[in-house]
Amino acid sequence: MANQDEDDIPMLFGSTSRQSCTTWACHWPTLAEPREKLNGGEVKAHINALYESGVPFFAKKAFQDVVDQLDSHPTAGDEIITKDLTGASLKWKVRLGLSKELCVRDDENNWNEQEFTFSQCALTYNPKERLIRDLDHDKIDVPDWAYAPISLIHSVDRPDKESETRKWIPTAPIGEREDVAHDFQEKSEAWEKSETCENFKSILRSVVSNHEIDNIIGFACGSIALEANEQCAVQTALLLTVRNWLKERDQDKRIPCYLQDPMNTDVDREVLADWDVEILDDPRGWLKVDERSVVLSVAPNVPVKEIIADIARPAIAIWFKVPDKDEYSTDPSTSRVRTMMADYDIFEFEPTVDGLHGNVMIYIRKSAIPPIPNADGTFWPLKIEAGQEITEGVPSEQ
Ligand SMILES: C[S@@+](CC[C@H](N)C(=O)[O-])C[C@H]1O[C@@H](n2cnc3c(N)ncnc32)[C@H](O)[C@@H]1O
Repeated sequence: MANQDEDDIPMLFGSTSRQSCTTWACHWPTLAEPREKLNGGEVKAHINALYESGVPFFAKKAFQDVVDQLDSHPTAGDEIITKDLTGASLKWKVRLGLSKELCVRDDENNWNEQEFTFSQCALTYNPKERLIRDLDHDKIDVPDWAYAPISLIHSVDRPDKESETRKWIPTAPIGEREDVAHDFQEKSEAWEKSETCENFKSILRSVVSNHEIDNIIGFACGSIALEANEQCAVQTALLLTVRNWLKERDQDKRIPCYLQDPMNTDVDREVLADWDVEILDDPRGWLKVDERSVVLSVAPNVPVKEIIADIARPAIAIWFKVPDKDEYSTDPSTSRVRTMMADYDIFEFEPTVDGLHGNVMIYIRKSAIPPIPNADGTFWPLKIEAGQEITEGVPSEQ
């Protein structure tokens, strides 16, 4: 049995969908170098100023640094280092395999202590709004992580004390491979026959003729191996429709197709491998997105739009309609997202099938020529072309 971790108590939170609820634990990091204590008001003003001046909150380099550290197979007690918005290094302790008694609500809704094991590392993403809100909640001291756009988290699983191998108790029943394969085959065929799919294909055929496309990435689609998988099945099938259309258009060029959702199980991995779809562990999906990508993300629990606006200008983005003003959600759209979307045409394809929401739009980049990122690979600060001026954060022709 793993050692008990007697350290600090983690903050627990759930990532909920119709399919299941994953429990995550976030422990606080320590600053590599101590810094002067600031007050909340100063830090909020500073975070806003960093955003307005175009400092990228998310960058592929930061994700790659985490991936490199995770690829070296850290064990309990090791540290993962990330940088915050000021350039300061934060040290996050790895707790993989450790167990802890945590106070949670049980199935009858009573609070009691249960044993959990920290099983997998992932990131949580803190866009500007979230950092500011966290400061509103924290009435005491400005925490060391006040400027951290990414935080290391662990998924926490309940081990089955009765079983010798102490296997984890799944939070939702995972389907058998054959049943899941059959179910996905049926649901993707139904999608292909739907009127929505026809509308979708006709938009692609009529609008996207010259955009070079090299890969397709779906974020937060859910799991086809869990119950209530209509959304996941249709969103995954839609990505396969994009690939089939590209195969026709580009004379059989192979287009890799990836999915990133921590909800994915080994059964998802196996079944979707037969469809040549690869499941990527968080945060590896972001590294695949560039100006030759198609990105899909519907109702994610992570700020996909804010992240993409900082790191790439995909050829096509399929996601909820971007509102005209800031709206707080798990996937907020702030001025950077609106600025990015000004370079895209929007197409409605009237989703009527179960599994897509009516508010899902296809955004197609106006220019087939891929825009070039800044030297550090990000799209902030925004490049201003000659003859353009900035109006409310959006460059426009003079
Ligand atoms: C509300 S559900 C939406 C699921 C589905 N797209 C739909 O339309 O119903 C949010 C999804 O975001 C996923 N998610 C959470 N963190 C993520 C991450 N870091 N990367 C990708 N997906 C993530 C959750 O696991 C969950 O499946």
